[in-house]
Amino acid sequence: MSKQLKIGLVGYGFMGRAHSNAYNRVPNFFPEQEYKPLLKAVCGRNGEAAKAFADQWGYESIETDWRALVARKDIDAVDICVPNHLHKKIALEAAANGKIVLTEKPLAMNVAEGQEMCEAVERAGVANMVWYNYRRVPAVTLAKQLIDEGRLGRIFHYRANFLQDWTISADVPQGGAATWRLDAAAAGSGVTGDLLAHCIDTAIWLNGGIRDVNAMTETFVKERIHADSGKPEPVGIDDACAVLCHFENGSLGLFESTRYARGHKALYTFEINGEHASIKWDLHDLHRLEYFDHRDEGRVRGWRSIHVTDNGGEQPYMDRWWVPGLQIGYEHSFVHQAADFMASLEKGEPCSPTFREALETQAVCEGILSSAKKGVWETIAG
Ligand SMILES: NC(=O)c1ccc[n+]([C@@H]2O[C@H](COP(=O)([O-])OP(=O)(O)OC[C@H]3O[C@@H](n4cnc5c(N)ncnc54)[C@H](O)[C@@H]3O)[C@@H](O)[C@H]2O)c1
Repeated sequence: MSKQLKIGLVGYGFMGRAHSNAYNRVPNFFPEQEYKPLLKAVCGRNGEAAKAFADQWGYESIETDWRALVARKDIDAVDICVPNHLHKKIALEAAANGKIVLTEKPLAMNVAEGQEMCEAVERAGVANMVWYNYRRVPAVTLAKQLIDEGRLGRIFHYRANFLQDWTISADVPQGGAATWRLDAAAAGSGVTGDLLAHCIDTAIWLNGGIRDVNAMTETFVKERIHADSGKPEPVGIDDACAVLCHFENGSLGLFESTRYARGHKALYTFEINGEHASIKWDLHDLHRLEYFDHRDEGRVRGWRSIHVTDNGGEQPYMDRWWVPGLQIGYEHSFVHQAADFMASLEKGEPCSPTFREALETQAVCEGILSSAKKGVWETIAG
């Protein structure tokens, strides 16, 4: 007997679409799962636009106030896909109403807010998860398997970048519907919470906790027109961020995120160097995992480019899709995460990353911003 998980989605922008697509695909590609997502209601402030979205993606109804959505008796799970300053308010009220709570990343504007959110879902005893979706790209999941099997041996280095180039012009405004990411009041931080948070989440997942950080940030454009006031206002976000860190396992980390790397649109890369082997991954070539193993026979030793598209059914998630050799894309990471979440409900287990796990990433991001401001190493509280 299948069970329906009635979803109430708040926000129908980029992530609202990605999540709606994921919920719609889960029953098609994970048909054996007991829990099936049912798109019950979508909430947006503009009723006409919300109705158009509901019709396009298959939601049964709409709300124009998130408070009405989280209070509805016919909603089991609230999925938060709005700018960061709204995550806490919605999560707290959803948890108080006994709803399962899923939220987009970063968990919150800062650690204090994130802590409140963790306490709220834990007090209410409701399932919760943060959409750090890159963990569920099959090549990244394969990297996790290889590391956990000990193939790399002792890890020495973890290196990651997330590079974009869309805010170089000083004419890009801050605030409003299109550029809330440049407004500290809506985003909390700039590239640290928006881009680097992904790198940190993956890094902690693959390589364990981060002990301390030393960072520099820069705001290259100091003043931008605010979309609400129409007037120039100081820019409060970080445009670029570079970080050194120690992991708890003794390895060294090097991270960079920026929106000022001309030519790069969403270049998320990581490389890990261990005593026996190294791995590399690149979002622009997301189905490949580069792997070098020093223990290979010398004559043929070299970097292998593993096309993670099944290989006999052994590569993560790929048995769900097409025939071996045919690749999948960005949106599938969300499908996998939604499917894993449904499976976790069936098993009665938490689905990673939970709010509590995502709080660790929030703490590292906060440590980075504080280190950059003070010019000192910051210890990350465990
Ligand atoms: N996992 C990822 O890779 C990823 C990618 C992009 C964004 N995000 C995160 O997702 C969240 C949303 O980002 P996005 O890119 O979808 O933004 P977006 O601007 O495309 O969409 C935001 C949506 O929120 C709505 N909204 C704003 N205030 C609202 C309110 N008071 N009530 C109801 N709806 C409201 C907007 O109308 C819009 O539909 C952010 O937290 C962001 O950091 C994550």
